Amino acid sequence: MLNKPIGVFDSGYGGLTILKEIVERLPQYNYLYMGDNARAPYGPRSFETVYDYTLEAVKWFFSQGCSLVILACNTASAKALRSIQQKDLPQLAPDKRVLGVIRPTAEVIGYYSKSRHVGVLGTQGTVSSQSYLLEIEKFFPDIAVSQEACPEWVPIVENNAYDQPGTDEAIQTHLDAILQKDPQIDTLLLACTHYPMLMEKIRQFTPEAVSIIAQGGIIAQSLEVYLQRHPEIEQQCGKDGQLEFYTTGSTQDFDNHTANFFGRAVSSNLIQL
Ligand code: DGL
Repeated sequence: MLNKPIGVFDSGYGGLTILKEIVERLPQYNYLYMGDNARAPYGPRSFETVYDYTLEAVKWFFSQGCSLVILACNTASAKALRSIQQKDLPQLAPDKRVLGVIRPTAEVIGYYSKSRHVGVLGTQGTVSSQSYLLEIEKFFPDIAVSQEACPEWVPIVENNAYDQPGTDEAIQTHLDAILQKDPQIDTLLLACTHYPMLMEKIRQFTPEAVSIIAQGGIIAQSLEVYLQRHPEIEQQCGKDGQLEFYTTGSTQDFDNHTANFFGRAVSSNLIQL
């Protein structure tokens, strides 16, 4: 068992796009990654189900010695984070913390746009929660935000279907749709942690003048600032520079996928929630 790791959770592979940047920026800590691949995608699931699954995951991270858990999943952040923070944590573990990815992203997204027109690409769950509209409005009321749900994109990543027929079309359709909703968009936010794994294709179908923003770097920076501001949490994070991976799905698929993406061999463990 890792010594007091920082927990990083996603419905599947997506959180790896966040973990990669976090480890690059803050290599000194121990990290425990868990992907609920067996139950992904979370995007089309109800609020109650995403909340139940996410709470199960958070309890598992706590049982593994984590004092800090990052929901590196927009859908879980949109549908479960607030209830967990306000309702569950005070009873379950008042000294532990669970953080999400929506607020830190909303806090900075306005700095990327000159036209003040931003497009948000996410899962059905994230888009219908309206979380980004509400959060960006708080920090940048002058920005016009358009949203587009891309329900095919997570299954493409989870099923490793990058080169299958129909994939390019599924990607292009949603990019065309959001730019049609607002042709003044100059910044597209990938508000699902799976989407950076499709970056090459997304770039291919997006006009050059439009910037595409992935969240990994933003979350890594905000975690660094958080740990500086919260020494009481930082002191509870082990610093041996170690990483462990768990999945509720196939460990072989996870290891193959992760090695590609992480640029290093990974040997994951199976976990049943
Ligand atoms: N990667 C997750 C997100 O950021 C969720 C993907 C899914 O399971 O639908 O929203």
